[in-house]
Amino acid sequence: MTFKSLLSALSFMILLMIPACSPDFGNISENSPDEKIKVNFFLIDSNQAAYTVFFNNERVIDTSTLGFDFKDYPAIKNNLRILNRTNSKFSAKWETVLGDNKIIDNTYNQIRVELEETVEPFRKFDVVFKIYDDGIGFRYEFPKQDGIEEVIIMDENTQFQLTGNHTTWWIPGDWDIYEHLYNTTKVNEINALKYQNHESLAQTYIPYNAVNTPVKMLTNNGLHLSFHEADLNNYSGMTLKVDTENLLLTSELVGSPDNSKVKTKFPFNTPWRTIQIAEDAGDLVESNLILNLNEPNKLDDVTWIKPMKYVGIWWEMHLGKSSWDMASGKHGATTENAKKHIDFASANNIQGVLIEGWNTGWENWIGFEDRDGIFDFVTPYPDYNLEEVVKYADEKGVEIIMHHETSAAIRTYEKQLDTAFALCKKLGINAVKTGYVGKIIPKGEYHHGQFMVNHYRKVLETAARYNVMVNAHEPIKDTGERRTYPNMIAREGLRGQEFNAWSSDGGNPPEHLSIVAFTRMLSGPIDYTPGIFDIKFNKYKKENQVNTTLAHQLALYVVISSPIQMAPDLLENYEGHPAFQFISDVPVIWETTKVLNGEVGDFVTIVRKDRNSANWFLGSITDENSREIKINLDFLDEDKTYEAVIYRDTKNSHWNDNPTEYEIEYMEKTYKDSLNLLLAPGGGTAIEFRQK
Ligand code: NOJ
Ligand code: CA
Repeated sequence: MTFKSLLSALSFMILLMIPACSPDFGNISENSPDEKIKVNFFLIDSNQAAYTVFFNNERVIDTSTLGFDFKDYPAIKNNLRILNRTNSKFSAKWETVLGDNKIIDNTYNQIRVELEETVEPFRKFDVVFKIYDDGIGFRYEFPKQDGIEEVIIMDENTQFQLTGNHTTWWIPGDWDIYEHLYNTTKVNEINALKYQNHESLAQTYIPYNAVNTPVKMLTNNGLHLSFHEADLNNYSGMTLKVDTENLLLTSELVGSPDNSKVKTKFPFNTPWRTIQIAEDAGDLVESNLILNLNEPNKLDDVTWIKPMKYVGIWWEMHLGKSSWDMASGKHGATTENAKKHIDFASANNIQGVLIEGWNTGWENWIGFEDRDGIFDFVTPYPDYNLEEVVKYADEKGVEIIMHHETSAAIRTYEKQLDTAFALCKKLGINAVKTGYVGKIIPKGEYHHGQFMVNHYRKVLETAARYNVMVNAHEPIKDTGERRTYPNMIAREGLRGQEFNAWSSDGGNPPEHLSIVAFTRMLSGPIDYTPGIFDIKFNKYKKENQVNTTLAHQLALYVVISSPIQMAPDLLENYEGHPAFQFISDVPVIWETTKVLNGEVGDFVTIVRKDRNSANWFLGSITDENSREIKINLDFLDEDKTYEAVIYRDTKNSHWNDNPTEYEIEYMEKTYKDSLNLLLAPGGGTAIEFRQK
């Protein structure tokens, strides 16, 4: 059975059209299938389009208007009339290639509202709302327009009128990078502009008091909201400008050298604007709304898409033990070092090896204004024999992960895309880690603008043609396109582990990942690179450290999901270490995922069932506070017995004072049992439940 026919066999679909029964379009509304969420659409004042959203009859989005500013044409704002509306229902299940759940349910109710201007130039567009049990998505769909072909959007003015001064977990609306720590403040205290000059980032641009998405909020009534977008394609990334006085968010698209936001042609659709709504923080993590709002898989053959764990020549550069360049005299990417990593991988159930600094150009990669032409993606340094390394890996059954650091010189990379990916294909390499450190060249473009959205998509499509998966660093945020292109395997797009190696602000605090799980992770898989065992690495850097316990590092392999997960520490810190067994055993794709408990920024416990065995895995992490968490094991399969292998903090563990102390305990457990987890300050617990 082919993948596609399997999909259609799995799918069942009800498409029910309910035509408008009355010409009175005054009250257009629709509920979610479980009837908890309700969306109203209407025209206000001088006939501007507007909507509201309710949850259990509580207003969560108050009257919010829709519109656009254009170059050379009047804004779309007032003077609209409703031509028609259609309500419909849809329900289908689809199978994922990778990810947290094998089967995803896509069930929603839809309203399509057709609008037209009553004055010149009489433009037409539809607003489409899809209302799910876990939130809503809406987008603008512009058909062909009479007499207008090209369109330059100066801004999209989509409002989200909040109904209270919610607690918000946010990063600044930086147009160039998401690598900021999360702030926890009330909406009226959001102050993104103070992050304008970030000392440790090679690129930062924050022109407005705006936040990046996903942005997570908690209302006074205990409702959890997350604002984001889905299917960002040939459009600019959306930040949300914050009006702190009126508690109003408005879309602010990322700009370009001529200050326009989007250049396109009619017909076109915008990305979906999404609001996920849940009574429990964990339900946001389990939500599949973003994926459901993307197009189905476009790749016929997915046999070359292989989830994997990997080690690499990487952390040693971040620690300063070796370097990417050769001139320093301590080049990391040598043939010998690569073979050492391949040997380790092959002996320890690790499928891949990443080698950074393998190609020439690293002498001038960062801090130079003109970085065009510095890198090519085919020429190895003389002490690195690419063919020999690939052959050796092949003999040992290990995959090599290619590295393309572009230093954000986009023209250079695009010119070489085909050559670079053809080399991967020739060598049988099926994964590339890309990187975009520095300001974008051409100047005036931003990492999150339309120019780069299109670039990242072009790389993904090119990679797919050569059967290569992409793990992008300094990426555009994930908006669910991995459903359409399952070779979009993971991204960075947050303050990753690397900050702990060199950041001058003390690294990622103990609470970091218990915020990330409810914010950045709602967009998609994260190449965080958990699993540092030598927490203090005093041999290399006395002033830096990881701010968690070792058991917390292990738990991250379950908490932070990604079909590609690194074991980043120096091999000597893993060799012979009993806790490495957990990294060896932990899978990277899952049959199903459940969040057992959690509060944003405090703690979270996630369990996932392996897609390829009957085993379950648990990861639980806490912030700087120690915690006792009682877990019911009723997620385990009924009537089966499991050997639980528990990796946990001891009574003496502490993220700063005693981070590496941990213990391993073995217990027999069934679904009727419970467990008390004791998490140290900055600690965690990782459990493998092996079905007997
Ligand atoms: C930044 C990436 O996040 C990191 O993983 C990589 O090692 C460096 N750039 C060099 O490409
Ligand atoms: Ca980075």
